[in-house]
Amino acid sequence: MEKLNITLYRFDPEKDAEPRLQAYDIESDGPLSVLQAIRHVYHNVDGTLSFRNSDCRRGVCGICSMMINGRRQLTCMCLATDGMTVEPPPNRTIVKDLVFETD
Ligand code: FES
Repeated sequence: MEKLNITLYRFDPEKDAEPRLQAYDIESDGPLSVLQAIRHVYHNVDGTLSFRNSDCRRGVCGICSMMINGRRQLTCMCLATDGMTVEPPPNRTIVKDLVFETD
């Protein structure tokens, strides 16, 4: 059993005055991609989390790109690590949480 503590960006522009970072403890049977870890949080810990449920999960579409520990990467192609922080890219209009407007 693998245990991870991950921190995700939370912000609802319609309700929140400021964005915040929220930590989550998750457990899995094996390694998870960052995208799988986010999906795990949504399905098992906090169903209020918003994120793009990206389709390809193979590094092709690019829609899952986010800042992982301050570096822009594809969440479907990176392994989740204990203590990681996931945020939207800077200078993007936030729709809610990890959903942001794209070009
Ligand atoms: S889901 Fe398509 S690149 Fe990650």
